[in-house]
Amino acid sequence: MNTSQSPADVCEVHDLQFTVYSYPSHQSSNWRARAQLKTANRNPQTPPPASPVPDLLQQLRAGLTTHSAEETRSLAERLAHVLPRNATLALHGDLGAGKTTFVQGLAHGLGIQSSITSPTFTIFTIHRGPIASLVHLDAYRLENDRQIDSLMLEDFLITPYILAVEWPEKIASWLPETAWHFSLGITSEQNHFVRLDKSAA
Ligand SMILES: Nc1ncnc2c1ncn2[C@@H]1O[C@H](COP(=O)(O)OP(=O)(O)O)[C@@H](O)[C@H]1O
Ligand SMILES: [Mg+2]
Repeated sequence: MNTSQSPADVCEVHDLQFTVYSYPSHQSSNWRARAQLKTANRNPQTPPPASPVPDLLQQLRAGLTTHSAEETRSLAERLAHVLPRNATLALHGDLGAGKTTFVQGLAHGLGIQSSITSPTFTIFTIHRGPIASLVHLDAYRLENDRQIDSLMLEDFLITPYILAVEWPEKIASWLPETAWHFSLGITSEQNHFVRLDKSAA
């Protein structure tokens, strides 16, 4: 028990819990959900519920090859639909790997109309969108903690900002623990690949 709570506080919380759990419609919907789950578990023929989100993330974790810039954009566009509205994306990969192309797809998925180019000289660009704003950061030229601090990037770690970082190695110590890390590159057949190495979901 929290020592700062008075007995009356505690009692109130208990009363509230009791009321919620004994409310008939809650009880019946919980019961129905549990029954459905049990039936599904008992019957191996029951198809799993359609869940495009885990499918896409699973495919990305295994790594996907794209055969054109458009394919990379469309992959990122699908990802944009399932990203939390406060996600930070660390896009690892050499020059020409497809990082900016990937961000173009993210922007499209977020309903952003403005064109996305590499913000190498401006360091970062904010693209306002109807679902979330996309902050596109190119960390290549950042050299020290003072420079990183002066950008006040913390403001973009909250909803409704999705922060996409090219050259994230440059700000590795600054990146939040919850950042989604992607590797992008070019295969021996000159196709491109995208792989999700670490995610918060
Ligand atoms: N499958 C693909 N995925 C991404 N880019 C591709 C692909 N195929 C060709 N490209 C081309 O490769 C280049 C990638 O450049 P860019 O996205 O700017 O890379 P980076 O930002 O990593 O330096 C673009 O010119 C793009 O049109
Ligand atoms: Mg780029």
